[in-house]
Amino acid sequence: MSDWFIILQWIFMIFLIVILIFLCFVEGVLRVIRRYHKFPIPAFGTRLIDNPWRRFVQKPRTVAERMQLKPGMIVIEIGPGKGNYTKAVAERILPDGKVYALDIQESIIENLKKKVEKEGIINIIPTIGDVYNFPFEDESVDRVFSNACLPEIPDPVRVLRDCKRILKPDGLVSLCELLPDPDYPRRKTEIRWAEEAGLELREKFGNFFIYQLNFSKKSS
Ligand SMILES: C[S@@+](CC[C@H](N)C(=O)[O-])C[C@H]1O[C@@H](n2cnc3c(N)ncnc32)[C@H](O)[C@@H]1O
Repeated sequence: MSDWFIILQWIFMIFLIVILIFLCFVEGVLRVIRRYHKFPIPAFGTRLIDNPWRRFVQKPRTVAERMQLKPGMIVIEIGPGKGNYTKAVAERILPDGKVYALDIQESIIENLKKKVEKEGIINIIPTIGDVYNFPFEDESVDRVFSNACLPEIPDPVRVLRDCKRILKPDGLVSLCELLPDPDYPRRKTEIRWAEEAGLELREKFGNFFIYQLNFSKKSS
């Protein structure tokens, strides 16, 4: 092997290490900012998050399968973003099931409405709303689903209490998180929030970096 080739290999490795350190630094800075200033990620941020790499490591189909969906179910999604996970859920509850995709940002809901119309999806109902005031009746919902959204809300326990209120007795709350998200909480943190809200853990999927947790109402 020529000396030049070895030198190039070293330069490439040093370059990768510098990039990695830089990304860890950016992630750390964002986490500190997000810890003290919670606000909804702007629409362009949700487009960045929902990219092909993310959909490869956290497949919409797998996320939906873990929710034990059945035709006819009523599902609420908190913070749908681009709607790729919403779509995977909606397909599994056809023909009469509905997903109410609730987001606080008008631009996200407008984009989702366009996607739904363009793709001819009939059972996603994009809804502008704040999770602190769920516009749903007590015990009326089969599943509440949130992907990378709950930790960006300042009072997640309050939201989960309301999830419990609207959940049918045999319903599930399904929460997904993945690590590059600057709001990512560890599994034990999210489990603690849910327990404080009167929910209990049913199933855990994934690993430290990407996980999904299913909760039901606490059995008395
Ligand atoms: C990080 S994005 C995740 C989007 C999508 N679930 C995904 O995984 O690609 C979080 C979403 O939650 C929404 N959101 C934040 N706070 C909210 C609130 N209080 N009520 C409803 N939606 C909220 C944001 O507008 C944003 O669309």
